[in-house]
Amino acid sequence: MEPKSTKSTFDSEEWQWWLLVAVMVVLVTGAASITIWNNFHELDRHKAHPIRRPPGGVTQKYSDALRISTQFFDVQKSGKLENNQIKWRGDSGLKDGQDENLDLSKGMYDAGDLMKFGFPMAFTATVLAWSILEYGQHMRAVNELKHAQESLKWITDYLINAHPSDNVLYIQVGDPEIDHKCWERPETSTEKRPTIQVNASYPGSDVASETAAAMAAASLVFKNQDADYSKLLLEHAQKLFEFANSYPGVYSKSIPVIQDYYNSSGFVDELLWAASWLYHATGDRYYISYVTVMHGNAFANWGNPTWFSWDDKLAGTQVLLSRVNFFGSDTNIPIEENMNLQMYRRTAEALMCTILLPPPTNKKTNGGLIWVNEWDSLQYAIGNAFLALVFSDYMFTSETPYLYCNGKLYEPMDLREFAATQADYVMGNNPMNMSYLVGYGFNYPRYVHHRGASIPIGSNTTCQDGFKWLNSTEPNPNLAIGAVVGGPFLNDTYIDSRNNSMQAEPTTYNSAFFVGLVSGLVTSSSVARSFT
Ligand SMILES: *[C@@H]1O[C@H](CO)[C@@H](O)[C@H](O)[C@H]1NC(C)=O
Ligand SMILES: *[C@@H]1O[C@H](CO)[C@@H](O)[C@H](O)[C@H]1NC(C)=O
Ligand SMILES: *[C@@H]1O[C@H](CO)[C@@H](O)[C@H](O)[C@H]1NC(C)=O
Ligand SMILES: *[C@@H]1O[C@H](CO)[C@@H](O)[C@H](O)[C@H]1NC(C)=O
Ligand SMILES: *[C@@H]1O[C@H](CO)[C@@H](O)[C@H](O)[C@H]1NC(C)=O
Ligand SMILES: *[C@@H]1O[C@H](CO)[C@@H](O)[C@H](O)[C@H]1NC(C)=O
Ligand SMILES: *[C@@H]1O[C@H](CO)[C@@H](O)[C@H](O)[C@H]1NC(C)=O
Repeated sequence: MEPKSTKSTFDSEEWQWWLLVAVMVVLVTGAASITIWNNFHELDRHKAHPIRRPPGGVTQKYSDALRISTQFFDVQKSGKLENNQIKWRGDSGLKDGQDENLDLSKGMYDAGDLMKFGFPMAFTATVLAWSILEYGQHMRAVNELKHAQESLKWITDYLINAHPSDNVLYIQVGDPEIDHKCWERPETSTEKRPTIQVNASYPGSDVASETAAAMAAASLVFKNQDADYSKLLLEHAQKLFEFANSYPGVYSKSIPVIQDYYNSSGFVDELLWAASWLYHATGDRYYISYVTVMHGNAFANWGNPTWFSWDDKLAGTQVLLSRVNFFGSDTNIPIEENMNLQMYRRTAEALMCTILLPPPTNKKTNGGLIWVNEWDSLQYAIGNAFLALVFSDYMFTSETPYLYCNGKLYEPMDLREFAATQADYVMGNNPMNMSYLVGYGFNYPRYVHHRGASIPIGSNTTCQDGFKWLNSTEPNPNLAIGAVVGGPFLNDTYIDSRNNSMQAEPTTYNSAFFVGLVSGLVTSSSVARSFT
């Protein structure tokens, strides 16, 4: 059942609206051109105010989409597979890390090649862990919780081994120069797979913080079922954060060869993101001080929302820290820190307004997709739709009735409905009638840019002659099920060509965003007030 729009019932509350307008006029200063009603939610909460919640019950299409999208993590697994359900996948990367006496065999290939890039891999884990923390009950309702947890653990097992001592983190397995000169299945690859580390002399605060964030978030996921594992993750997370904070540096400056692949634009966003996760995982108020009075002014860029992506974690940090503001039980946070936390929430609200307000505030395709960049265009739409959905659930759960955006009132249901439009676009409700979720519906990309999916299992191809499978005009012989490809152009069209890596290459973080998004939509119960 589709949630219904509820704006029409606004009239009955007109008196209240005018009261709020009056209060707003008094309180809103020129500094905050975008702000929201829930300045007053304390006031509202005690009234018999009917908050319209989304209806209960499982929505079949999102349940189907969730069941499909989680499978992409199985498609991407490196290492000795367990309970493998993907018929055309097998063991690979078994010797990864051996040169360094490490077992880096697990983890996931980031996209269509055979590289294990630590930065996006850790981000994938952070987003997946966050999705499980917010929507684990929804996943359980459609029998996908265990699968999601196992996928997460496949990455965190790798991350633990990639952090063998305090100030050393392995951030890559495989050489992209070598890798990209080949087109072969991971199972048959014999190319050298060197590792790269960051350390005190070659620091990488961005990748170390992202890894800390992933481990802190995952420590919460596993807290109740495997206390030792959870504790281990948290210890690594704290050490990595210390490393990141003590040796500031952009990893792609320390190691310039990364720049052609996952070039990082800076690390302060990841420091804040990691500290925010560490606060949730430990309850240690040091981390609140870190993101507020210690570094908020310099790092947080309050008031200027940016799009959530593998490179920019500010928006995620703002939404995650809004949790403290919405549900926080720590009443001893000092006033100044609380005011800084408000700034995070205000900036999250500004992002929500940017998402909701019609163009030109927020650029969209004619088909309604959030538009930021043509490389991996879907990443921005689904990543930010995920944030919108989480934020709408924070509003529902805290009974926060309104979001006020430049003279317009929105309700949490508006945010939820908008988030659903982005998921629906991906699932085929778009001008091409094309599902960008591989394996969903009938009309999805057949020429996904993916080495393993494009090469028949029995073919004995090696590095160079494998290119005949890239060149082939036949559709992929293997289904990269659950892949969310890069996505359409600004004009909503898509070229289904294997060589079109801009549009046709899937990534694990696209899948993590999408899993989070559809697990939030699959049924309606509200988010967990507390992660623990
Ligand atoms: C530190 O990392 C750099 C870059 O990966 C590497 O070249 C160097 O050998 C490392 N230092 C040590 C002591 O291992
Ligand atoms: C990587 O990012 C840095 C900082 O944003 C920039 O100066 C550099 O030119 C980028 N490198 C490439 C190859 O794009
Ligand atoms: C998409 O489907 C709609 C409705 O079924 C149809 O009118 C439209 O022509 C289709 N567009 C394309 C590009 O196939
Ligand atoms: C596969 O190719 C390699 C290298 O060309 C060759 O040594 C091997 O015998 C082939 N295996 C099969 C089963 O054809
Ligand atoms: C694949 O196509 C490229 C470009 O057309 C060509 O140079 C190459 O020889 C082809 N490789 C194979 C193995 O067919
Ligand atoms: C694929 O695209 C690359 C880069 O645009 C080009 O160099 C290559 O020749 C193309 N290969 C084929 C088979 O079209
Ligand atoms: C859509 O945009 C792409 C990229 O700008 C362009 O190559 C293509 O021709 C456009 N297609 C249509 C139908 O306008």
